[in-house]
Amino acid sequence: MAIFSHQRHHWAYVWIPIVGAFIWFGTLWAMLITWLATGRPHYVSMAANQHVPFISDIAADILKPLFITSCTITAISFILDLIIERYLRHSGRLMPNMRTRERVFSSLAILGSVIGGAGLILLSIFDTRRHKTLHDSFLLVFIVGVALSAIFTVVEFRWIYKDFQYAPLLKRSYWMKSIIAGILIILAFAFAGTEFKVVNVGGIFEWIIAMGFTFYLLTFYYDLRQSKGTFDTDEAEDVDVDDYDEEVMMKTIPGETKGWGEDVEDQASGLANKDLARASDALENMQASGELAPVVTVAPASPNVPPALFGAGGPMLKRFDESTVASRKGSNAPSPPPSVKGIGKKVAKPDYSEQKIVVAMVGLPARGKSYLSNKLMIYLRWLEYDVKVFNVGQLRRTKARQKAQKLGVKENHTAEFFSHSNAQATQSRDKLAEESLEMLIQWLKEGGNVGIHDATNSTKDRRAKIEARLAKEKGMTLIFLESFCDDPATIAANVELKVSQGDPDYKDMSPDEARKDFLRRISEYEKVYETITEPHLSYLRIKNVGEEVTMSRINGYLSSRIAFYLMNLHIRPRNIFFSRHGESQYNVEGKIGGDSLLSSRGMQYAKALPALITDNIGEKPLTVWTSTLKRTIQTAQYLPYTKLTWKSLDELDAGVCDGMTYEEIEQAYPDDYANRDEDKFNYRYRGGESYRDVVVRLEPVIMELERQENILIIGHQAILRCLYAYFHHLPQTDLPYIKIPLHTVIKLTPKAYGCDEERYTLPINAVDTHRPKPKAAKQPSTHSTTQRQYFVEEEIKPLA
Ligand code: F6P
Repeated sequence: MAIFSHQRHHWAYVWIPIVGAFIWFGTLWAMLITWLATGRPHYVSMAANQHVPFISDIAADILKPLFITSCTITAISFILDLIIERYLRHSGRLMPNMRTRERVFSSLAILGSVIGGAGLILLSIFDTRRHKTLHDSFLLVFIVGVALSAIFTVVEFRWIYKDFQYAPLLKRSYWMKSIIAGILIILAFAFAGTEFKVVNVGGIFEWIIAMGFTFYLLTFYYDLRQSKGTFDTDEAEDVDVDDYDEEVMMKTIPGETKGWGEDVEDQASGLANKDLARASDALENMQASGELAPVVTVAPASPNVPPALFGAGGPMLKRFDESTVASRKGSNAPSPPPSVKGIGKKVAKPDYSEQKIVVAMVGLPARGKSYLSNKLMIYLRWLEYDVKVFNVGQLRRTKARQKAQKLGVKENHTAEFFSHSNAQATQSRDKLAEESLEMLIQWLKEGGNVGIHDATNSTKDRRAKIEARLAKEKGMTLIFLESFCDDPATIAANVELKVSQGDPDYKDMSPDEARKDFLRRISEYEKVYETITEPHLSYLRIKNVGEEVTMSRINGYLSSRIAFYLMNLHIRPRNIFFSRHGESQYNVEGKIGGDSLLSSRGMQYAKALPALITDNIGEKPLTVWTSTLKRTIQTAQYLPYTKLTWKSLDELDAGVCDGMTYEEIEQAYPDDYANRDEDKFNYRYRGGESYRDVVVRLEPVIMELERQENILIIGHQAILRCLYAYFHHLPQTDLPYIKIPLHTVIKLTPKAYGCDEERYTLPINAVDTHRPKPKAAKQPSTHSTTQRQYFVEEEIKPLA
């Protein structure tokens, strides 16, 4: 039977409430018209002073067979409405119940409908003329049963609507049901109060309530219709876990360096097997029971994360997040002409040429200056600013090597070289710092935006010199960034990092000697070190990365952005997990965008995910972020952690191409297809977004991500590519081709420089939505470029 088919046409269930409502409404009118047409007879069951018959009075007469039939159909359809709605939520074709209490209320609503429905059938059989007492009792059962059912349904909807605040249809359902049920319940009280005392008024109330019940029945049409267009893949693509590899694949990309805030605990590779066991257990249980019982507990907010104005869930961030829609407008800069025409267009990078900032680092050795410089560089480059770090230590080493090669003179760069009582060395070091600053200024003049002077700049005198030099340049802003650190463990980790990484300063020494010498160097600096307090300077002083921040005279858009970013950083060990939503129905159909629900395999992924994540995270707190689209919310539904939805995490908006397959786009808009392949990062779909637009709207997410501890983001392909590129410092040209497969969890562990990465692919098949870069184009690099480079030959250009 087509209309009640379990495949493809779930929305055909809408006929059930329509039939129920139509029959009910039609019968009421048939009875009313019959009464009117037969000259308004005074039925036997009516009281002497009664002019308006109750429905039951007419129904006890010749229309009794019609009334019984109609009541039976209405009662059964009403019960079925609730059962089907429950089934569709359970199977993921309607917004799912996220909490146990929602399921409880839904079941109670069904129970209420069964009681009310039984009451309705029985009251029609035991008519008021022959069985007055029974009839009145069943009428009460009917009213109470339906009222309770409506109350439970409204409460259930209240919870679901809270979970899916961005689903306007749900909100409408909730309000429609509340208003109709509310009015009917009030009228039911009015009916009860008048039925025996003011019998004619009671009669009118009864007719109004009965007619109004039709509208309540029709709200189920509205609910069930929301499953239109959804289908499951049970038949075509049923999954048998045994068909898949017995192994959860895990790939590890080791972090480049360790130290600075690193979690030294090694994540043993045995984890993979454990995950496999847990994941397949979960899958087996699911298969055995039909569904996993969700456990929802709210993880306490992390005690280590300070409250912030822009904190996740905070009002400012929410507004910032919602305002991302506005950011889609993008730049006013002239766009490069595409080589072929099309409806979308290539949008140029915003014009940043006026932005010229010198960030001069301040701090003793081993205090994390290079860490902060590196992070800042990655963040700003991700936002497409031209940023370069000018490391004075590298320049010193490069110059010393050149001198040794040319003149055969080997400079002594042990601790004595860094002593302020060594006048010649002090002069030489000052000169190096000046030279590095000149190179930086020159680079800014040639088009750079932010130059980071990575040196100790640890005396007032040195800072005054930098200030005086920059005062001579027009349009350049100077900000000092001090990294102050008094945490012995962090200092020790940084010393080890320096010693163990084969720093050329220590290449002829044993690690022990190197350590001693480096500590002596630090103490030489300590003798003259002056923390930054100069009131006229523009500066940011960060204590123990994230513990305390002092800000002075920071003005302007980019400077404030830099300051805001640095304020959010911390170095506490943590993990960031990325997962795309489970396979969606659109994925199966090859369509892009949309807001479809999960396929049955996607649901399996959602159910298997909690085991994988909890195995990894253990007792530690974790927060789950999703987009506002159904497929991510559904994927997160079984995760027993606090969940937040972000508008900024919604998938790249494909504009007029939303809902099309790549093949359809190629056919309908061949020029656009070619344009996008030619320059995917810059291509903006007509009425939609480019990858650049997405990066811009993800900025608040990055800010918050840096501030938080363990986070799991259930996102989308394009979104996760952008976030992934930030953590691995991948270039914009390669970003749109990063592989983020379905049913795979990517675990990032931030390190001193870069991130460790592990990938866990669950053995649940899914379609491949990756469209590789066309063969002719330069293939993307997926290697992180976040490595700290001690040994890079500093480019020394002759100064103009
Ligand atoms: O195909 C899944 C999907 O998330 C689409 O919704 C989205 O448009 C697309 O990926 C983004 O990937 P690409 O930029 O490679 O088209």
